[in-house]
Amino acid sequence: MQLLDGKKTAADIKEEVAEEIKLLKLKGGKTPHLVAVLVGNNGASITYVNAKIAACDKVGMQSTIVRLHDTVTESELLDKVEELNNDADIDGFIVQLPLPKHISDKKVTEAIDPKKDVDGFHPWNIGKMMLNLPTFLPATPFGILQLIERYNIETNGKHCVVVGRSSIVGSPISNLMSRNSYPGNCTVTLTHSRTVNLKEITLTADILIVALGKPEFITADMVKEGVVVFDVGITRKADKSKKSGYKLYGDVDFKGVQEKASFISPVPGGVGPMTIVSLLKNTLLATKGK
Ligand code: GUN
Repeated sequence: MQLLDGKKTAADIKEEVAEEIKLLKLKGGKTPHLVAVLVGNNGASITYVNAKIAACDKVGMQSTIVRLHDTVTESELLDKVEELNNDADIDGFIVQLPLPKHISDKKVTEAIDPKKDVDGFHPWNIGKMMLNLPTFLPATPFGILQLIERYNIETNGKHCVVVGRSSIVGSPISNLMSRNSYPGNCTVTLTHSRTVNLKEITLTADILIVALGKPEFITADMVKEGVVVFDVGITRKADKSKKSGYKLYGDVDFKGVQEKASFISPVPGGVGPMTIVSLLKNTLLATKGK
């Protein structure tokens, strides 16, 4: 078994991004500027946004957090999005999800200028991705593609099984893995909560991508020998023995599945850090696209 070390791969890519930013500045170009809008006090969201901002600092990118109270109205948040759309100094921005229940994720996502949508969530950018046109790929799927490339994992003709059909992971990665390119050219099966006999399907996977948010859902008896596993799930469970007060769990029972896998990404330190560098890459792309 070979570990898909997202932490190490992300650190390598960060160095490359830092080098590109240095060159851009030397040529008199603009310092890329990413803004993260964070609404409310969701612990996981605060951790993710802080990690994104820290990554910006590391590569010489400017970053700003806009924090809004969870009582902010939808119309106030839409006004903020409009302000960011019109601010020429800001190259890209994200609105961290989930949003409080009284605000529509969909409305907010659609209000973001597609040219600044470095999360790649806007319908225009999703449409471009579907047509294989250059665009911002959603960060987590983009991170998985980069791990596949860096570890030279063969995808051509493989059966890729995706578990979970979310619009930010399962659905886009299914499309990307079936594209006529590398990584891609897989036969893809997208499974979800209504899938019958899931185990029969996962047992036929050469590549298994799991993004459903159920801790240790995939067990060793559900995979075949030699499978390549990407574990996207991150669930926090209270754990007093940890300094942070919680322990992170992936969607895959790592201990059992690693015995059969040829490659497997751990949680933490697998897909998570790759998601963050994808956001940096998209922001750099947004800056250069100006
Ligand atoms: N919530 C969980 N993942 C993401 C992400 O990649 N982007 C945003 N904006 N919110 C998220």
